[in-house]
Amino acid sequence: MSATAAAHAPRTTAQEDTARLLDGETHRSGDPYALWARLREQEPVLWHGPGEFPGFWSLTRYDEIDEVLRDARTYSSASGILLRPRAQGDDPGGNRTLALSEPERHRRLRGAVAGWFAPRNLRRLSDALDAQAERIVRDAVAAGRTDFVTGIAAVLPVEVVCTFLGIPERDRPDIVEWTTDAFCAGTATERTLAHLQILDYFGELAERRRAQPGDDLVSVLAAVHVDGRPLPVEDVVLNCDNLLVGGTENVRLAMSGGMLALLERPAQWELLRTGFEEVAGTAIEEILRWTSSATHLVRRAARDAVLGGRQVREGDLVVCWLPSANRDPAHFADPDAFDIRRTPNRHLALGAGPHYCVGSQLAKLEIRAVLREFVRQVRGVEPDGPPERLDSVVVGGLRTLPLRLTG
Ligand code: HEM
Repeated sequence: MSATAAAHAPRTTAQEDTARLLDGETHRSGDPYALWARLREQEPVLWHGPGEFPGFWSLTRYDEIDEVLRDARTYSSASGILLRPRAQGDDPGGNRTLALSEPERHRRLRGAVAGWFAPRNLRRLSDALDAQAERIVRDAVAAGRTDFVTGIAAVLPVEVVCTFLGIPERDRPDIVEWTTDAFCAGTATERTLAHLQILDYFGELAERRRAQPGDDLVSVLAAVHVDGRPLPVEDVVLNCDNLLVGGTENVRLAMSGGMLALLERPAQWELLRTGFEEVAGTAIEEILRWTSSATHLVRRAARDAVLGGRQVREGDLVVCWLPSANRDPAHFADPDAFDIRRTPNRHLALGAGPHYCVGSQLAKLEIRAVLREFVRQVRGVEPDGPPERLDSVVVGGLRTLPLRLTG
């Protein structure tokens, strides 16, 4: 939203704006960008008192968010990185998963898995990935219509994570179904049930791989020692779950949000179609900035600190609104324009500092593969009904994007 539009939005206080950001409905049917724009200008470091959620410092400007993410010793991830209602208590993954570890444990875990996401390993995977993207888009074109979210954007990332985790081919249809339901099913109960099935599955898989290691990431996690002891099976399960969730949900949202942004701007689509190899690199970065699917990240102050001139006390929670950082006019020229040639584009959609997304290169490879196949195979594309957005404070983006395709 532009500065002029923000100025004409109904007047509310910064506290009220922040409260609205905590309501999933704002992200489904409202305009969170208008709220973020106003907060960036008026109260970029704001204390929001406890309610359904604990009290927290709300950060909306790029600079403070970047500072917090880069300083993991002052701003710890160990007790959780997402806002949780007070009634739910602490995150069960606290100091157990890669994303939620204090610096020493984090270094150990990240060292164990990082090689899997390194360019050398990704090159090995790249042909298979291109072939999968080719098939997924071909099937959609043959059908003539698809929900881009569940029919295309959800499929490739699950296949890829399954390959990394060494999930046998025969089990993959179940994983694809449970993962799609865990994110896209209509009711919260259906989503929770699907998620429990995933956790159960990983429990059994982790036990099998500990007894009989293979050449996959589950075996690597099952063999990691922290403080001289192997990771408990529950920790292996939570880490696998994080990889599946982080590695599928965000890619799905970036791909589908990027596709919608392109379809709404025929000139940008044409630019990508006619000069794919030249423009794909900057286009993918712009899609990541634009979609910023991880809506917020939480940290807990491990010591007193001063942030944007405000006194933060040890134990305080800090919430970083990533989409807001990525529209900060102090860092991005014309931030509300989607421009696939944008450069520089140092967005924070993949985080920053020690917890910077370990799957970042993989994510870009996947987005590139699907876009390339779309450009190659699809001649005509039109909406087949209105897209719907998710009602979530955790991840933002599309729940459905119905399209009609001609090859
Ligand atoms: C468009 C796609 C993606 C987006 C937007 C995204 C976003 C992020 C962000 C913002 C973080 C930082 C979390 C923090 O600082 O607390 C992160 C970390 C992480 N991501 Fe991604 N991610 C994506 C794709 C992936 C993929 C493909 C994988 C793996 C298959 C993955 C696995 C992880 C893991 C394990 C972490 C934790 C890293 C650590 O704490 O050291 N992500 N991601």
